[in-house]
Amino acid sequence: MKPKLLVTREVFDETLDYLAQHCEVESNQQDIPLDPGTLAQRLRDKDGVACCLTDRIDDQLLASCPQLKVVANIAVGYNNIDLAACTARGVMATNTPEVLTDTTADLAFALMLATARRLTEAEAYIRAGQWQGWHLKQMLGVDVHHATLGIIGMGRIGRVIARRAQGFEMRVIYHDPVRLAADIEQRLKATYASKDELLAQADFVILQMPYMPQTHHLIGAAELKKMKPSAILINSTRGGIVDDAALIRALKDGTIRAAGLDTFEGEPQLNPGFLELKNVVLAPHIGSSTEATRRAMAMTAAKNAVAALTGGTPPNVLNPEAKSNK
Ligand code: DGY
Repeated sequence: MKPKLLVTREVFDETLDYLAQHCEVESNQQDIPLDPGTLAQRLRDKDGVACCLTDRIDDQLLASCPQLKVVANIAVGYNNIDLAACTARGVMATNTPEVLTDTTADLAFALMLATARRLTEAEAYIRAGQWQGWHLKQMLGVDVHHATLGIIGMGRIGRVIARRAQGFEMRVIYHDPVRLAADIEQRLKATYASKDELLAQADFVILQMPYMPQTHHLIGAAELKKMKPSAILINSTRGGIVDDAALIRALKDGTIRAAGLDTFEGEPQLNPGFLELKNVVLAPHIGSSTEATRRAMAMTAAKNAVAALTGGTPPNVLNPEAKSNK
């Protein structure tokens, strides 16, 4: 008998075809997020789940599906999963690193350029029929080239952003709990800085770390005050890392110049204060959303799930020790 797997949200046909070769698949192709009760009920008899960051996989849910062996997240971030609870209950959890690194770095860069050059504001101006003609002081932005870029979180995506920055001849400084080896710093032309030094010097601050209790409100009112009034903040990693209410105040009173945001606290219910501001560029958590990358993420998750359900160790297992707890 094939193992039973639930796919909680819409995926691509090739993902379902691949899964169907190995599993008995039930999928939610209507793509309406499953509420916790429905998710628990549909997972009760399942051996595996391919899920998304919109699904909360916590201990209570795991307790109600004792057969579950694998939680395959279709995302690199996994703050929707209680990893310790998975490990304790012998459930392997997996994510999708690597396949989205470049795409997500591109979006961070796109937000930086769009915010610096006021692109969404400019487009809204044209669409509103306000453009009367060229003039010298129109929509003055700031330069990205030769500016100082501060990257907080120098993992895979942070490093790729640093490489992109070389093309714009930017000075790159970074902060991370773990300092990079000297040869990597050299290759990336990135200089280590304390968080405070980075906040004080950067023209652009890009956040690129996972959300976890230690990174909750890593950027709040105090940190925003340490930034230059001309600085721009980019958050395309996870909501909750920035105190959004404090950011709105800082954008209103000129503590910083602007922000480019792809992730929000409590998304998709973002703080309505953002909508009143011209100096933000807003995107609906599309960092990894290109056709090729989303297909690759779904297939990576599918392969992780199948590996776990056929007795193997998934390539992207986050808690290999879970296997021995089942
Ligand atoms: C991730 O993979 O964590 C992304 O945020 C999902 O788009």
